[in-house]
Amino acid sequence: MTNPMLELVGLRKNFGGLMAVDELDLVVRSGEILGLIGPNGAGKTTVYNLISGIYKPASGKIIFQGENITGLRPDQVANRGVIRTFQIASLFKELSVLDNMLVAFHLQSRAGFWRSMLNSNYSRHEEKRFRKRALEILDFMGIGSLKHEHTINLPHGHQVTLGLAIALAANPRMLLLDEPLTGMNPEEVNTMVSRVKQINQEQGITIIVVEHNMRAVMELCHRIAVINFGKKIAEGVPDHIRQNHAVIEAYLGES
Ligand SMILES: Nc1ncnc2c1ncn2[C@@H]1O[C@H](COP(=O)(O)OP(=O)(O)O)[C@@H](O)[C@H]1O
Ligand SMILES: [Mg+2]
Repeated sequence: MTNPMLELVGLRKNFGGLMAVDELDLVVRSGEILGLIGPNGAGKTTVYNLISGIYKPASGKIIFQGENITGLRPDQVANRGVIRTFQIASLFKELSVLDNMLVAFHLQSRAGFWRSMLNSNYSRHEEKRFRKRALEILDFMGIGSLKHEHTINLPHGHQVTLGLAIALAANPRMLLLDEPLTGMNPEEVNTMVSRVKQINQEQGITIIVVEHNMRAVMELCHRIAVINFGKKIAEGVPDHIRQNHAVIEAYLGES
């Protein structure tokens, strides 16, 4: 087994009397795509909010690359390379695709803001560097030819791809994808599945994906963890999960 990149140890988070995440142990291995699935209300988004520092756990630990990051602020977690994808709602719809990327770079280099304000040489240099990197990422994601399009005119699938491109601008070691295939037609789903695979393989980025589209999850993920009522009920390779009775019950019991 390869090195653990992220470890959740006995993680718990309650909202009043409701235990949203309950004694969760989970290992994400370096270089893998791990699917995190479970019925609505199972606790998946809460797990993301715990990892990314939006919530603090009631108890338990979060270890990233050997470092205890439990209780760190979201910006501190992001600085370590754990990046959550932008929701497409947070794109600037009236800006072009490229300008959305540039805004992302500027927001993320706030430390360099005053330096760039005070030194126009530095600023020009940095602008050029951002532009080059932004175009590289857009090309890698297959939307380079759309760089001058207004974001509002993009089909849904391309807007989600742009959200992913913006996440890549932050230089992630680990990406947390929350339902990246929602609202996509079958063709967009196939394209997105291959893009995510490409990010994983060619950039070596470890990925957790929360997604309801089971066919896509089975095709995309190396391993899958299933949670229900905040507890892990199964874990393993896709073929193992497909045949797991507790999983089938959790899903059939849902509707
Ligand atoms: N901020 C919150 N306040 C109160 N209850 C919450 C909050 N966030 C989530 N919950 C509850 O915690 C449980 C897990 O929610 P969530 O993590 O969003 O599940 P999932 O993403 O798997 O659908 C649900 O019962 C949900 O209603
Ligand atoms: Mg959710």
